[in-house]
Amino acid sequence: MRKDHPKAAFVTGVTGQDGSYMAEFLLSQGYAVHGLKRPSSVSNTQRIEPLMQDAPQRFFLHEGDLTDSAGMARLVQQVQPDEIYNLAAQSRVDVSFDAPAYTATVDALGPLYLLEAIRLLGLAGKTRFYQASTSELFGHAEETPQSETTPFRPCSPYGVAKLYAYGITATYRRAYGLHACNGILFNHESPRRGEGFVTRKITRGLARLAQGLGGPVSLGNLDARRDWGHARDYVRMQWLMLQQPEPEDFVIATGQSASVRDFLCLAADELGLTLRFQGAGATEAAFVARIEGDQAPALRVGDPVMVVDPRHFRPLEVPALCGDATKAGKHLGWRPEVTLPQLCAEMVAADLAAARREAALRVPDHAMAEPVGD
Ligand code: NAP
Ligand code: GDD
Repeated sequence: MRKDHPKAAFVTGVTGQDGSYMAEFLLSQGYAVHGLKRPSSVSNTQRIEPLMQDAPQRFFLHEGDLTDSAGMARLVQQVQPDEIYNLAAQSRVDVSFDAPAYTATVDALGPLYLLEAIRLLGLAGKTRFYQASTSELFGHAEETPQSETTPFRPCSPYGVAKLYAYGITATYRRAYGLHACNGILFNHESPRRGEGFVTRKITRGLARLAQGLGGPVSLGNLDARRDWGHARDYVRMQWLMLQQPEPEDFVIATGQSASVRDFLCLAADELGLTLRFQGAGATEAAFVARIEGDQAPALRVGDPVMVVDPRHFRPLEVPALCGDATKAGKHLGWRPEVTLPQLCAEMVAADLAAARREAALRVPDHAMAEPVGD
């Protein structure tokens, strides 16, 4: 890439997990990166602080909201991007049941606004478009593992909104010749994962509990199975898709699935804890059965570490997902590099370090009770 005229990428959702890894990756490839950041009264740039400091000449933030069609057209016109990565979304499946109309506006109409901007501004020959599609499209899947040819049966407002986005992306590709691709990504996690998603809820919750901060982790369906990879691996694939001469859709997954219960046990193991489960369904709980090492000084054998809370059950659940990324392997030479135990270990280590810092700063109760002054 020419240094005096780098490629320009527009990344929506740049403050999120994938957006932050994507911006990092694109900067390392020499791009000028323009990120869309939602206006916010409190800081939402924690994941991209280092980039704002290290690459001020090539990393630019633009305030705006994906639901503002005119604002998006104005930004696309201003940036004249070579590539758009549409990563912004209301990405919580559970939240989509409580906020279905909002989820549809952001997740279904948002991508349409960007596609329309490319078309109406006459950028179809220049700007390539990546849509963050999802394995939630498969929903109650008809076959396992799921590939590009598996029928879609979404079963959440999020999945249905993302199905519209998938379809409109493919339609603009066919109707107007846009270089527009869907990456059908299975779950991917990292230490930057939002705290409401189950893996991060577990690693953060257990790490804090181990340091005497907070109570047992409260979870919903322990038997749901997901195909979990590392977000850093997956953004590389998103970029590779836009480098292809012809636009195509790809599944991206590890091909292995594990249950929420498995992930809980893996995370506990990282902290030297063996768990004992008791009860079933809505009354199930997990307790410490054995402790090795000194990672969990606040816990004793018999202490509860997880309780099931039926409030976390979903009105409709996707019981199991497992992807077949053969096409990505063949066409793009892509293979996931990080295994689930490695991913879990990285997440636990980051959350344990944060919990230790927090515990060290905590003012002991007896110190609070001391009288102030003479
Ligand atoms: P994430 O961490 O939740 O990030 C979502 C991003 O979208 C955040 O930057 C958020 O801004 C932004 N956003 C939300 N609503 C917006 C709006 N109305 N206007 C502008 N920005 C808005 O999600 P992620 O895990 O990085 O996922 C990235 C994309 O991939 C999403 O589209 C998600 O649906 C999709 N996906 C994710 C996975 C996965 O397992 N991670 C799998 C398949 C597909 P704030 O920081 O201000 O909240
Ligand atoms: N969030 C959450 N919280 N999920 C829980 C909990 C809990 O306390 N307890 C059990 N689960 C189960 C959910 O019912 C689901 O079956 C599974 O854990 C994974 O939930 P999430 O981590 O919230 O992820 P998701 O699979 O619903 O959605 C994620 O992956 C999709 C790709 O398949 C999100 O990143 C979506 O944006 C993404 O499209």
